[in-house]
Amino acid sequence: MSTATLPERNDIMRWKVGTLHENWYVAALSTQVDDKTPFASVVLEEPLVLFRDKTGRATALRDRCLHRNAALSGGKLFDGCIGCPYHGWTYDANGACVIVPSEGPGAAPKVERRVDRFPIVEQDGLVWVYMGDVDNAALKAPFRFPHSGEEGWSSYFMLTPFDGDATDLVENFMDVPHTAFVHSGWFRKAGTAKRAEATVERTCDAVHVEYFQPDDSIGFTGWLLNPDGKVMTHTDRFFMPNVTRVDYMWGERRGFVITSQITPIGPDRAMVYTAITFRFGVFNPIARLLLPAYTRVVINQDVAIMVNQTANLKRYGGRRFNSTEADVIHRSIESLRDHALAGGKGAHPASFSKRISFWM
Ligand code: FES
Ligand SMILES: [Fe+2]
Repeated sequence: MSTATLPERNDIMRWKVGTLHENWYVAALSTQVDDKTPFASVVLEEPLVLFRDKTGRATALRDRCLHRNAALSGGKLFDGCIGCPYHGWTYDANGACVIVPSEGPGAAPKVERRVDRFPIVEQDGLVWVYMGDVDNAALKAPFRFPHSGEEGWSSYFMLTPFDGDATDLVENFMDVPHTAFVHSGWFRKAGTAKRAEATVERTCDAVHVEYFQPDDSIGFTGWLLNPDGKVMTHTDRFFMPNVTRVDYMWGERRGFVITSQITPIGPDRAMVYTAITFRFGVFNPIARLLLPAYTRVVINQDVAIMVNQTANLKRYGGRRFNSTEADVIHRSIESLRDHALAGGKGAHPASFSKRISFWM
C-alpha cells in the first residue's frame, strides 16, 4: 500500500487539529462511489478522489495529478484506473502511475510515480478513510452504525452540508433544550417545558446521556409509530471525535435511532452523514415513505441555526460561552475535543458520572 504519511501541505486543516486527524472519517456513501465516474470528496481540507477498481473495491487517492497537478476527479475511469483530464497520465487504484501518453505506448511505468492512497474501509453503506499516519490506521476501527442491516430495522441516509465547526455541530445534535425553539411544533413544543432528569457520563472518548422523563414524546410518535402507548426511553451518545447517536425506544421492539457522522470539510464547514434507522414493525414501509420529508425539515432547521451561530462566532472572534446545568453535556463534549485539538497534551479529562436536571 502506498502511504499518505508525509504532509504534502502543512497549512491545511488536517495537520492543524492536534490528534483529531488520527481517525476514520466518512468520505462518501457507498452508493456515491462506482467505476464509471470519479467522486470528489474533501476531508479536513484534503481533496480526495474515490472510485472502484475492476473487482469493485473502493479506493481513495489524493486528488492531484503528479504531472501538472490537475484534479484527477475531473478525469475518466476505465479498466479500474483513473485518467487525468489534462494530459492523460493514468493511475491504478493503488495510486501507481501506469500510463504516461507522452512517453509512448511501450514506456515502462516508473515506480516513483505514485499518488498517495488513503487507508479505506467500506461498511454499513459508508466509505471511510483514515486521515492520520497510515501506520496508525489499523489501531482504530471506524464507528459501526447501529442496527445496520439488522432484521426488523429499516434505514436511510441523509447528506447535509452544514456550516459549523464539528464541536458546535456535535453539541447541536446532542442538544435537547433547542428542540422546543429551533424545531417548535415539529419535535417539541415551546411553552410546554417539563423538568427532566438525566445522567451524564464522560469516559475517555465518549459522552453518554440517559434521560429520565417518562412522559416525554417527540413530534411524530402518535398512533402511527407508537400504537401501544409505550413509555419512551431516550439516550444521547457522543463518540470521539465526530459521531453522535440518539436513541428513542418504545419498549424493546420499537425504536428510532439518529446517527450522525460529521466530516469536516474545512474549519467552518462540514458534510454530515445522518442515518435514520427505525423499527416500527408493520409500519416500517409507511414510515420509510413519510419520514424522509419530516427529517429533512427538522435537519434544515438545524442547518439554519448553525448558519446563524457560525456567522456570529466568526463575527465575534470565537467562543465565549455561558453554561447552565443542561450544558454539562456540552462542556463534556468540548473537553474531549479540545484535549484532542491540543494534541492530547496535558491531563486527559477525567471520567465522571453526574445526575443533572433541567427544563425541556
Ligand atoms: S496534469 Fe495530469 S496529465 Fe498533465
Ligand atoms: Fe436540532
